[in-house]
This record gives sequence, structure tokens and C-alpha cells, in this order.
Amino acid sequence: MLPRNKLFKRTNLSAIRNILQYTNAATTETRSPAHIPVLFEETINFLNAGPSKVFIDMTFGAGGHSRGILQKAPDATIYALDRDPIAHDHSKQLAAEYPDGQIIPLLGKFSDLPQLLKERNIKQGTFDGIVFDLGVSSMQFDESERGFSYSKNAFLDMRMGHEQITAAELLAKIDEPDLAKILRVYGGEKAAKRIARTIVESRSAFGKTETTQQLAELVASSVSQTYRLNKLQRRSHIATQTFQAIRIFLNNELNEINYGMILAQRYLKKGGRLVIITFHSLEDTIVKRHINGNIIEGMANPVPLKYSGHDLIHDQDVMESLAEKTWRQLHKRVIVSSEKEIAENARSRSAKLRAVEKVN
Ligand SMILES: C[S@@+](CC[C@H](N)C(=O)[O-])C[C@H]1O[C@@H](n2cnc3c(N)ncnc32)[C@H](O)[C@@H]1O
Repeated sequence: MLPRNKLFKRTNLSAIRNILQYTNAATTETRSPAHIPVLFEETINFLNAGPSKVFIDMTFGAGGHSRGILQKAPDATIYALDRDPIAHDHSKQLAAEYPDGQIIPLLGKFSDLPQLLKERNIKQGTFDGIVFDLGVSSMQFDESERGFSYSKNAFLDMRMGHEQITAAELLAKIDEPDLAKILRVYGGEKAAKRIARTIVESRSAFGKTETTQQLAELVASSVSQTYRLNKLQRRSHIATQTFQAIRIFLNNELNEINYGMILAQRYLKKGGRLVIITFHSLEDTIVKRHINGNIIEGMANPVPLKYSGHDLIHDQDVMESLAEKTWRQLHKRVIVSSEKEIAENARSRSAKLRAVEKVN
């Protein structure tokens, strides 16, 4: 591997920046100050919002979907959960607009929900609708200091909340084979071994990788390209999958989704509606398996969580009880965004919505 100073020269910072700007505009997000809710009308319609109904918005974000529920059912009650303190502040602002206590802001992860509801004496089987709009919000992605994106140089943080270690801390201690596995499993990265080797060698030779740009440059230096065509045949920066993989692992996203699906089954009433929007196949596979009652132990947790300090996950009895058929799907084909929505909001391009009713 080249020394870091030469490596930085070889990858030519301004060229990288140009490519990053190009790819960011072309393949990731439409820049906007706030988050535009994806598949908005479809979500609100499937939730079947009506008078006096009670909902959980599991991923409050900027509150787009919650506001949609309130437009349709102004007296609805919404438990507004998010693990991100900034999103939680947004939910408190919405709560202030509804002084009768209709909006209940909850700070925490899906896996914290049972405790948060218990503290408020809320029982299982209470809710008429639950919505998940997974992934990262535009606020998280666009705030460079959150470290989710390689498009601006910033500290490599990548935490959705503040409860676990940062990506920089993870890269400072992870073993090469484990890193390669994370990149392959959570990013689908074909060059996972080479990238992991470069990152770990750079750590021994030059010290920690602590910024988004350092990481993007290390990835670019380990393979001979700076961008590649993604599954949709669009130019995508070579570090896209590495960033995705580290983010998913660090935030324990797949285990959270797996557990979130179990909670949806527990907390919905019979006849209650679940709407869930996913953004990549790892998420969608977990959701599909739950909907079809085809659940296997360990499906969400292929890489050990020893680095990220998460202690969850589920007990065997709960997994077995899920084998019964719980859901009736409310549509034939998976719902995707229209061309118009994609043109207006690039983030919606990979969105898939599934809506089900609890029948059991
Ligand atoms: C795509 S955004 C949701 C946007 C929202 N629907 C809106 O219209 O503004 C996803 C949000 O889910 C939150 N999130 C992701 N995983 C979570 C988890 N396991 N527990 C709680 N919140 C989570 C993120 O912090 C982020 O704010």
C-alpha cells in the first residue's frame, strides 16, 4: 500500500471532490433543508387513519408521516419514537402544536419501545397503526458533522443516536476479517477483503482513520476506480457500499428491524395496520420473512456485535411464537415510488412499501 501522503496525492483531492459532488447529486439524495417523506399518500392511506385512532410512528424523523396522519385524523394520538435526539426535538415541537397531549415524543430505539410504553402503562394490542420509514433521514445524511456521507469532510461518527461507539472508534479496533465480513454482508462489497486490508494496514502505518474523506480515499486507493455503476446502472462513488455497511452494522439496524417487526405484531390490535418502507434488500428481506411467517434465528445478525456494544436481541420463545401466520398483505405487488416522485425526491428511488393487517 502507498504511504498516506502519496496515497492522498495519487487520488487527487479536487478530482475526488468533483466526483463526489457529481455522484451525490446523481445517485444519492436531493439536497433539501428538511426531510421529504417518501411514499407519503400511500403510507397514510394504508394506515387507514380515522377518528380517535392510536398510532406509533417508529421513525419520526422530521415528522412528515405523523403530520400526514394528523391531516387525515386531526384527533389521532401518535406515539412518536426516534433514536436520534434531533428528531426527538422535532417530535417535541409537534407535541407543542397539540397541547392536549395527542403527540407523545419518545426518545429511543425500536428495542427500547417496550420499556418506554410500560413506563406509560401502555399494553400490548393497543395500537391501530404502526409505521416504519427506515434508514437515514435527510437531516442525518446532509449534516456533514454526523459523518454519514463522504460528500463533505467530517469526523467519522455515523451514529443515529448517542448510545454506542462511533465509526472512527470501530475502525480503530476492528480485526481485518471482521471488517471484511461487515463490508461484504452489510454492503454487498465485492472488494471487501482488499478494502479491509487497506484500512487495517493504514491504521498500523499511519494511525486511526477518523474522517469521512480519509475513509473514502482509503477505499478508492484499495481498488482501481473512484466510482462504479450501481445496480441501477448509475454512477456511484466506490465508498458508497463501505459507508452503508459500517452504518448498518454500527447502528445494529437489521437486528432493530427484526425486533421492530416482532413489536409491531405484539402492539397492534387485531385488524391494526402496519406500513413499512425499506430502502435496500437487507431490510426488505427481513420484513418479507416476517410477513410470510418465515423467520429463522440469526437472520438479522450475521456478524458478531462484539464491537458495537449492543446487547439485544430476542429470545427463542418469541421467535417460535412468530411462526404463526399473523399478517394479511393489503396489496399484490410491492409498492414503489412513481417516476414523478423519484424525479422530485431521489431518495425515493430505492423505496419499497409493504402494508399488512394483523389477522392473528
Ligand atoms: C427515513 S427517516 C424517517 C423520516 C420520517 N418518516 C419523516 O417523514 O420525516 C428514519 C428515522 O428513523 C430513525 N431510526 C432508524 N432506526 C431506528 C431505530 N432502530 N429506532 C428508532 N429510530 C430509528 C432515524 O433516526 C431517522 O430519524
